[in-house]
Amino acid sequence: MSDTVKVGIIGLGFMGSTHFRIYKDHSMAEIKAVADIDDAKLQGDWSKIIANIGDADNNVPVDMAGIQTYSDALELINDPEIDLVDICLPTYLHAKYIIAALKAGKHVMCEKPIARNTEEAREILEVSNNVDNFLMIGMCIRLWPEYQHAYQLLKSGKLGSIKSATFKRVSPSIAGNGWEDWFMKEKLSGSALLDLHLHDTDVINYFFGKPNKVTSFGLKGFRSDSGIDHVFTNYEYDDGKLVFSEGGWAAAGSTPFEMSFQIVCENGTIRLSETGYKIIYENGTIETPTPVKPGLPTGWHVEIHYLLKCIADNKKPDNYMTIEELVDSLTIIEAEEKSIKEHKTIEINYGALSFL
Ligand SMILES: NC(=O)c1ccc[n+]([C@@H]2O[C@H](COP(=O)([O-])OP(=O)(O)OC[C@H]3O[C@@H](n4cnc5c(N)ncnc54)[C@H](O)[C@@H]3O)[C@@H](O)[C@H]2O)c1
Repeated sequence: MSDTVKVGIIGLGFMGSTHFRIYKDHSMAEIKAVADIDDAKLQGDWSKIIANIGDADNNVPVDMAGIQTYSDALELINDPEIDLVDICLPTYLHAKYIIAALKAGKHVMCEKPIARNTEEAREILEVSNNVDNFLMIGMCIRLWPEYQHAYQLLKSGKLGSIKSATFKRVSPSIAGNGWEDWFMKEKLSGSALLDLHLHDTDVINYFFGKPNKVTSFGLKGFRSDSGIDHVFTNYEYDDGKLVFSEGGWAAAGSTPFEMSFQIVCENGTIRLSETGYKIIYENGTIETPTPVKPGLPTGWHVEIHYLLKCIADNKKPDNYMTIEELVDSLTIIEAEEKSIKEHKTIEINYGALSFL
């Protein structure tokens, strides 16, 4: 492989344009191709993309000179120039294109969630276990600077045992934002339960391990056609620590986005809130760490930088997550869905296939 990783991006919406800009600024990557069914986006007209990172302006035409464009994603996957296929498609398409790219011998980066359900995720796991090329999923919150700092602090044991943890992720309604409003179609996106709340379920799995049981309550079909638009979940563990999360996109369109958490431990409390990131010790000391590394302001930057380095060093990208753990996180989400439907606590069977 040459010095730079040759990248092909599939899907030029909010996340595809975000990844595009990150690769563009990265010395270890070269964008060789993009694929989308929207011809205007392939020509560099990104004015229809709603969200954005930093101060990039989607109304300014993007220079696509030297970049091969495809309207068929499978053609990009089979382009021999490409080392890394980055998939930023609507969720229901992830499994099909991850599997095709892995089988074509490409390294793969795919946006979260790994797949629409556990059945598809298990298929991906099986294929990825049988190839040498790498698969990484953009579960970006695991790598988000404050969350990663909190993870390392918990693992260090400095704060003692964990007593309680609450996580919150509430977004304004995103109805009308994505390609053909796919987020609001439960079959395609899994609604807020899978699309948004998964981040916190996955972080809970990452920080504390697999819960035994979940009890969830949900608001159904308010924004999306028939999915869970807001959820409250209690996660049960053997040691009795109290773990709870709230997530959803039910709020009115201009409500500010909020992601926050509080983890109470024997020797101190970790808190991320609107007032910043703090460690408050039992003895009264307050630390305000700034865990952002230069050039890596978000989890999206960290994950792409990490994967490019793994490809360059020919090292499997499993520092932050394994595909098995992501299948488990999806299993927890499906148990939450079952709990909402059946109005009862669900004991989670991690060996079982999809509940749906
Ligand atoms: N990590 C995060 O923080 C985060 C944030 C938002 C979205 N996401 C995830 O990223 C993925 C993409 O979301 P988005 O917000 O970018 O969606 P989007 O609707 O903005 O973009 C999807 C793009 O895919 C294109 N597309 C649709 N079908 C296609 C096909 N068959 N072939 C080629 N192109 C096709 C559309 O034209 C569009 O440009 C989703 O899985 C979503 O859950 C992750």
